[in-house]
Amino acid sequence: MNILVIGAGYVGLTMAVCFSELGHSVICIDKQKNKINTLLKGKLTTFEKNLDKLLIKNLKSKRLKFDISMKNVANADVVMISVGTPFDDSLNRYDQNAIYCVAKNITKFINKYTIIVIKSTVEVGTCDRVEQIIKEANPKADFDVVSIPEFLREGSAVYDFFNPDRIIMGTESQHAKDVIKKLYKPLKKKKFVFTSRCSSELIKCASNSFLATKIHFINEMADFCEKVGGNVYDVAHGMGLDKRIGVEFLKTGPGYGGGCLPKDTKALASLGKRVGANFNLIEAVICGNENRIKSFATKTLSFVENIKNAKIAFLGLAFKSGTDDCRFSPAIDIVLHLINKGTKVCVYDPAATKNARSVLKTKVSYAKNEYEAAKDADIMVFATEWKQFRSLDWAKLSKIVNSKIIFDMRNIVDRQEALKYGFECYKTGC
Ligand code: UGA
Repeated sequence: MNILVIGAGYVGLTMAVCFSELGHSVICIDKQKNKINTLLKGKLTTFEKNLDKLLIKNLKSKRLKFDISMKNVANADVVMISVGTPFDDSLNRYDQNAIYCVAKNITKFINKYTIIVIKSTVEVGTCDRVEQIIKEANPKADFDVVSIPEFLREGSAVYDFFNPDRIIMGTESQHAKDVIKKLYKPLKKKKFVFTSRCSSELIKCASNSFLATKIHFINEMADFCEKVGGNVYDVAHGMGLDKRIGVEFLKTGPGYGGGCLPKDTKALASLGKRVGANFNLIEAVICGNENRIKSFATKTLSFVENIKNAKIAFLGLAFKSGTDDCRFSPAIDIVLHLINKGTKVCVYDPAATKNARSVLKTKVSYAKNEYEAAKDADIMVFATEWKQFRSLDWAKLSKIVNSKIIFDMRNIVDRQEALKYGFECYKTGC
């Protein structure tokens, strides 16, 4: 099948590469020429595990192409729109202009039956609006607009693509259903869920908001454990074994971040308010998550308040491990709080330094590794759960730090091992 993916961001690029790996002929377009040129050379523009090999393999086989022209719509059986829908704070809703602009631009190239799939996370009713835009611009166009939300997680997006828990398909068109089923046919295990377009659009936003709620619940439980005793890790494990609860998304930390959970919770809460169906729970989650980030910064400072000119070694800047993405990263927000209080901070992240630099600029110093960051530090803070932080050489670190204090926001440090070398190790919820 001929697929056109519009938008080569974290989701669009992964989808384009993976659909070509399934055997389809895929063209991925993006208006950023530089990005397209880099991809044509077989180089990734984002950090994503296992995507590089598949990119090179499918470029070589010529099943995957990159371009900048909308003209490619003419040959496509399926057009997947995967452009950004950032949250617009002034309007308190997603900025969907990019989607509507693409809808207008593709219209003149539709010359046969084409399925337009909305992959971006959008407000309920967007598919209807896209359909209307295309119909108004080209009343003769033969097409269906379908909602198939994407549930890929950054850092494990390739795995998620080939092992989806479910494929949600929002459409009333039997023909579109048949074509899309064919599209996913090479996937071994798959479970289709057919719904209306509105329900499909809501499933995505509701899923991310529910995940955020789950994380915030365990974060509050962690605070409670610190007050009354108990270990949040054990509590989460014991709770999660109940199938109705599930073990996933019960890891405590400095709060959820990234390009999705923060904006989807805000979008759902504000839309609820607009239509008179308040999401009091989600509003509490949003507020609690924002306060948590601030309180983690305050807590970090409290560990070094008696040290003059304290230096903080801050490890981990991405919003989670396995990605270079710093959008709405709790780690970045915490660093910003720390430097606003005049504290000296030296940062290190295995993948996200380049993106972090565009926000933190010259207000912090940048280390090449954990040990360089820890040199003369008065506290080591672990804010992102990178695997390599779990196996540090504590003997070496004990000789280079100034004060042996650890604040482990993600519970990744082996406390017993650190204690052996004289470190005080403060964890979260235990
Ligand atoms: C999220 C969803 O998990 C995906 O299903 C969805 O496709 C994607 O958004 C999207 O809408 O495109 P992602 O933003 O990549 O994926 O990140 P998550 O793995 O959901 O993590 C979000 C945040 O929650 C991170 O800051 C992470 O550290 C935090 N988190 C996650 C916790 O603090 N504890 C957990 O147990 C899990």
